[in-house]
Amino acid sequence: MFLSNNSTYPIGLDISDLSLKLVQLNKIRGKIKIQALSKLNLPRGIISNGEIKNKPELLKAIKKIIAAPLYGKVSSEEVVACLPESKTFIKLIEVQKSPNALADIIGGEIEKHVPMALDEIYYDWQVIEDLTDKFSVLIGAAPKEIVNQYTLLLDEAKLSPAALEIEPVAFCRCLLNEEAPNSKQITFGAKAKIGAGLNYGIIDIGANHTCMIFYSANTILFTVSMPISGEEITAKISEVLKLTAEQSEKAKIICGLNEDKASGVIKEILDGTVKNLIQKIKEALAFYENYFARRGPINKILLCGGGANISNLDKILSRELALEVSLSDALTNVNEDKDKFNRVFLEKHSLSLKAAELDAKNKEKNLSIEQNSSVTFTTAIGLALRGIFIDEL
Ligand SMILES: Nc1ncnc2c1ncn2[C@@H]1O[C@H](COP(=O)(O)OP(=O)(O)OP(=O)(O)O)[C@@H](O)[C@H]1O
Ligand SMILES: [Mg+2]
Repeated sequence: MFLSNNSTYPIGLDISDLSLKLVQLNKIRGKIKIQALSKLNLPRGIISNGEIKNKPELLKAIKKIIAAPLYGKVSSEEVVACLPESKTFIKLIEVQKSPNALADIIGGEIEKHVPMALDEIYYDWQVIEDLTDKFSVLIGAAPKEIVNQYTLLLDEAKLSPAALEIEPVAFCRCLLNEEAPNSKQITFGAKAKIGAGLNYGIIDIGANHTCMIFYSANTILFTVSMPISGEEITAKISEVLKLTAEQSEKAKIICGLNEDKASGVIKEILDGTVKNLIQKIKEALAFYENYFARRGPINKILLCGGGANISNLDKILSRELALEVSLSDALTNVNEDKDKFNRVFLEKHSLSLKAAELDAKNKEKNLSIEQNSSVTFTTAIGLALRGIFIDEL
């Protein structure tokens, strides 16, 4: 009899304003493998700031990415999707112990932390630590209106939503070995010992939105919005150099923050943006040190999201923050052959010589680059890992 090896795990679907990303994983002889992977750019206006504006077009795009992924084949109608990061909320709070039921106390506390009325949100919570007189509780919240929009969308796409997640939960699951059930560092499900593992800052630099999350001892602590986005950077280059959006996008990817490319023209244009980013990260680190001192210092900053590919950003941040900063590894919790997937993730970018006004001084001939786009898939891989990790528990 022919036994199919097709995965029955839910698809991870990252729905962003300007792109859809899809990953389906499978477990084969105990190893987590990528069965399908794809990315589809969305025209502007279909989703705006996380709100669905043109559902028919979005449905078409979802059907297309599922029917014909760039790699492999999709074999499930179940989906784990994420809610738009800018619309959701996740934070570790402390609640005083009292004779009242914890659920009632949290209901009362949540409004102090979430900038929305209690009857307008769905929320969830989990006790992280039982301290003498209080509990540390991780709370997550999202506007009902957005959750309902995304649930209906998946329904109309004939998909069955296994879960809608808050995005940082997904990218932590993708990037941190601590999140894996078989992690050697901290046992999943057990109370992680504060100070036992590393403390991380993770910065997701997207096309529209960037956020930094703080993570320690198996929990997210808080998230902060950052003043940088891929689209903003491209627009700035376009404005200063009077290039088209397409040329500016390529100039950004090819030159990045590299002084040797195009005489450092792009780096110079982005100087102020990078300085603002550094300032905001320093403020976030100071907040962490103020409120979470007993967890010890942040040991590492990981960069993810497509914008993390901007060349030299890791080095500049590392120097300015005096911290280890590195591009994250989207395959941390997947047992794939990196060389094989380097080919799948490879993207080539080249800039036509017409746009070489950019480099009037050097007259560089070959403005082109090949880059590994795996960090763009961190959220989608994290979403796809959910089903596998639950299964392993
Ligand atoms: N080498 C590079 N240098 C700078 N930016 C890059 C590079 N490669 C990709 N990007 C940028 O990454 C962005 C896309 O990243 P990503 O796919 O993570 O965004 P997104 O998830 O669609 O957006 P968001 O999360 O904000 O909704 C684009 O703005 C793109 O220009
Ligand atoms: Mg994103």
